[in-house]
Amino acid sequence: MNNYIIAPSILSADLANLGTDVEAVLAAGADWVHMDVMDNHYVPNLTFGPIMCEALRDYGITAPIDVHLMVEPVDRLIPDFAKAGATYITFHPEATKHLDRSIQLVIDSGCKVGLVFNPGTPLNYLDHVIHKLDSIMLMSVNPGFSAQKFIASSLEKISATRARIAASGRDIRLAVDGGIGIHNIAEVAKAGADTFIAGSAIFGSEDYALTIKKMREALGH
Ligand code: DX5
Ligand code: ZN
Repeated sequence: MNNYIIAPSILSADLANLGTDVEAVLAAGADWVHMDVMDNHYVPNLTFGPIMCEALRDYGITAPIDVHLMVEPVDRLIPDFAKAGATYITFHPEATKHLDRSIQLVIDSGCKVGLVFNPGTPLNYLDHVIHKLDSIMLMSVNPGFSAQKFIASSLEKISATRARIAASGRDIRLAVDGGIGIHNIAEVAKAGADTFIAGSAIFGSEDYALTIKKMREALGH
């Protein structure tokens, strides 16, 4: 597969200079922007609202923005993030009472829709809705914070998800979020992922372009 996406998580960016830092990471070869939205309820941390997404668009960022909603409930924020310029809206299935309705709300808002699974969340949430999805994301850490250690059992879950995607016959991206860096990106790709979220590994490095280049080299292109 030569269709790999690298999506830096702005949770680890220079938040006092977000526009320039996001511009820099895209100029360094990143494909998407990953925006972690935390509500101090679904996860014990608090980050960005729709106005941050809008601010990046107003600044001139045109790359796809993947909004990762770590909020509960989710529906209230979907139209707001769509209006603010989100490309993908990705949420946790157990954080909404009516999964199909929330998925449909994202689609009707004009965005691509993703579901994201915590390390302990079963994949069977996919059973009746996979045909509607554009992306499936697996958390390889528990959500809420950057710079945590990759949970090794995620690799098996990535392979199981890849098999479900193949069986669905749909073109669905398979993203992995948490603890990804130059050291393990090849292994994560080998398990079946095609989209790599990385916060601290990229924004914590001295040279974004070199880090992204090394990641792509590890991926074999
Ligand atoms: C964690 C977030 C991740 C986080 C990844 O809840 O969803 O996107 O920013 O950070 P790293 O790559 O540092 O593990
Ligand atoms: Zn995330």
